[in-house]
Amino acid sequence: MAEHHHHHHHHHDYAQANADHFSEKSRDYTTEFSTEIGKRCASAILKSYPFDPSQTEVLDFACGPGLVSFQLLPHAKKIIGADLASGMVDVFNENAKQQGFSPDKLQCIQTDILKDDSKELDGVLFDVIICTQAYHHFPDTTQVTRMLAKRLKPKGRLIIVDFIQDKDIEQFFGRLHDSNHAHIVAHKRGFASDEIINMFKAVDLQNPKFETAFQMSKSEMKSYPGHEVFGKIMQGDEDFIFKYFVAYADRA
Ligand SMILES: C[S@@+](CC[C@H](N)C(=O)[O-])C[C@H]1O[C@@H](n2cnc3c(N)ncnc32)[C@H](O)[C@@H]1O
Repeated sequence: MAEHHHHHHHHHDYAQANADHFSEKSRDYTTEFSTEIGKRCASAILKSYPFDPSQTEVLDFACGPGLVSFQLLPHAKKIIGADLASGMVDVFNENAKQQGFSPDKLQCIQTDILKDDSKELDGVLFDVIICTQAYHHFPDTTQVTRMLAKRLKPKGRLIIVDFIQDKDIEQFFGRLHDSNHAHIVAHKRGFASDEIINMFKAVDLQNPKFETAFQMSKSEMKSYPGHEVFGKIMQGDEDFIFKYFVAYADRA
């Protein structure tokens, strides 16, 4: 199984596919649906770390247009967003400017963390690094986690929100196979608790936790404009439930 996945990933550049896809979609990403999910992610994150508005410096990795960053901002001293897709970076920074935030409070930078190529992040460490709804896009989640762990201050916390492994999510991504989502999702089954805990341990992060965060059923999704992005799956008869986890661990 692992070998099969490795083989598959080797022949497909998920990073490039994601950069292209999300740059193209950056201006359509913010909807009532994605905003609601962003709020639920932020509330799970706020329960997972004692944020202090006068202290807490945050990196929002794979931030998209910043739906979670903007929710967390009142609770943080400073937030830096980082994304591979330049279109997302532009939208994030336009929104920050429009809302009157200076770059030392909120800004977004374009980076490929695996290449460690960003001048702006050179030597900068964070109290909290969040990564929401993005781990399923990373072929090598352990390597991403290792690179993020290096950017934590001592005792700093990495917090991940993504899909819990489940037949509903597997079926959902399976049926998206013909759509343009298949080539950007590396983990089509979501993540099991032990997978995430072992990944944290593999990069020496301490006290790993994995908890159910929130869920969203198909029928609930339909009440939020923006769900249409998922196409004909939303019109079918079968119901499904997306279940999300919040997982976190600390640098020694
Ligand atoms: C589904 S969006 C999630 C955005 C945001 N975190 C949220 O919860 O609304 C996934 C994001 O991951 C970014 N992404 C995918 N692969 C990446 C990588 N290797 N490095 C950085 N960002 C990546 C995409 O560009 C996209 O903005």
